[in-house]
Amino acid sequence: MKSAIFILLIFTLFACNQQTNNKQDLQTKIDSLQLKLNSSYKPGFGEFMSSIQIHHEKLWFAGINKNWKLADFEINEIKESLDDIKKFCTDRPEIKFIDMINEPLENISNAIQKKNDTDFKNNYTLLTTTCNRCHQQTQHEFNVITTPTTPPFSNQVFKLK
Ligand code: HEC
Repeated sequence: MKSAIFILLIFTLFACNQQTNNKQDLQTKIDSLQLKLNSSYKPGFGEFMSSIQIHHEKLWFAGINKNWKLADFEINEIKESLDDIKKFCTDRPEIKFIDMINEPLENISNAIQKKNDTDFKNNYTLLTTTCNRCHQQTQHEFNVITTPTTPPFSNQVFKLK
């Protein structure tokens, strides 16, 4: 009987030890994954903004040329980049100001749906003013956005026949 208990005890101890080893293995794996995750590439705030800058510019030429489908596409690209900033740049305190841009974006979307170019132009000005208002709020007042005067790319047609 005593030896049976002894064997059982040894077995239990062995099982416990095995479990601890498994836990340690798992922790090591988690730690190395965390390390990989920390050093993996993610675009920064400024990179998203540079992409927004291009879509803001294309949006203008799409709108004034009444290419409403392209205008709708460009406004959605801006919205996507803003969503990405909120998702990937959580370490940046500036994101708390980002929602000020929602209303001007929605107003432009409405103008695009209505294919109303006067509304489009007026709301585009309001959008640009809001870009700058956020830059002022976030100490980037030196970064001034304006209505573009020439199309950004010569290899894209904005006015459809
Ligand atoms: C959160 C408020 C906010 C809003 C809204 C915003 N920006 Fe920015 N923007 C910033 C911040 C902060 C930076 C600096 C990013 C960095 O640290 O690189 C910036 C940088 C930029 C840059 C500089 C990128 C470069 O490298 O030259 C451009 C261009 C830009 N924004 C365009 C726009 C446009 C166009 C809009 C409107 C459609 C807009 N931004 C709306 C906060 C904002």
